[in-house]
Amino acid sequence: MSSAPRLGGKVALVTGASRGLGLAIAQALVAEGGAVACLARAGPELSRAVSDLAATGAGALAVPADVTDSGQVERAVRQTLEKWGRLDIVVLNAGTWQGAPVHETSEQMWDLLLDLNLKGAFLTLKYAVPALIAGGGGTIVGIGSLGAWAGQPGASAYAASKWGLRGLLESVALELKPHRVRVSLVHPHNINSAGPPLARDAPERTRKLEPSEIAALVAWICTAPDHVSLGNVTIWPVAAGITAG
Ligand SMILES: NC(=O)c1ccc[n+]([C@@H]2O[C@H](COP(=O)([O-])OP(=O)(O)OC[C@H]3O[C@@H](n4cnc5c(N)ncnc54)[C@H](OP(=O)(O)O)[C@@H]3O)[C@@H](O)[C@H]2O)c1
Repeated sequence: MSSAPRLGGKVALVTGASRGLGLAIAQALVAEGGAVACLARAGPELSRAVSDLAATGAGALAVPADVTDSGQVERAVRQTLEKWGRLDIVVLNAGTWQGAPVHETSEQMWDLLLDLNLKGAFLTLKYAVPALIAGGGGTIVGIGSLGAWAGQPGASAYAASKWGLRGLLESVALELKPHRVRVSLVHPHNINSAGPPLARDAPERTRKLEPSEIAALVAWICTAPDHVSLGNVTIWPVAAGITAG
């Protein structure tokens, strides 16, 4: 939000950074002068995202991994440390949405949501936190959802995964406070990310947030003065949030 880059010399790991909100967060962090390791499953989308970032002169590295696979996440963190020798920021963004009434929720859907939205965050923390502690501190930002705050009919498994993420990170925040690692959760609602982007003048556009609008908030959290820590932050479009009626 300021014009002078504030993350020079800092290194971030962003999960789910091949598209959507994760890519917008990676773009916002490199705009602040940070170097970013982009984690997503291997494929052309991740390669393109990282080469586009690198083309701007930014420090960008693809660390292909399935966030639900312990060995792959460990390797991605190791590759980040081998490249830059430090880690300062971890953004737990990889996640997805699926929904059905609870009695129509398949075990497969339950496992997908809990594995990706919750276990993936746990595994990333498991391997990244030692580097944050070794570096003397840092910032962790989890991407939750309004579904982490209120029950959602037809989305009980998704809500369980995001409430779980909130419980995980609120506990980790207390564990890591002595190590000067601050932990925040950003809870967005209705992002113009999945699927084809809406045109600027599309009527539904006012009911969606642009990924860059949420990414700016994440960048603000990561660049706040060291003594400032945000906890849970909700962000929604005025026309479609929980206060919109
Ligand atoms: N969209 C919304 O309205 C909304 C609302 C509230 C909260 N959120 C949350 O915001 C976050 C981002 O959402 P989005 O809409 O930007 O999602 P998206 O466009 O579907 O992007 C998801 C990202 O996660 C990656 N990913 C998926 N499965 C993965 C796996 N197993 N291992 C590693 N990476 C994986 C994807 O890359 P690959 O597929 O290439 O691996 C992609 O980079 C999620 O946590 C979501 O729950 C979204």
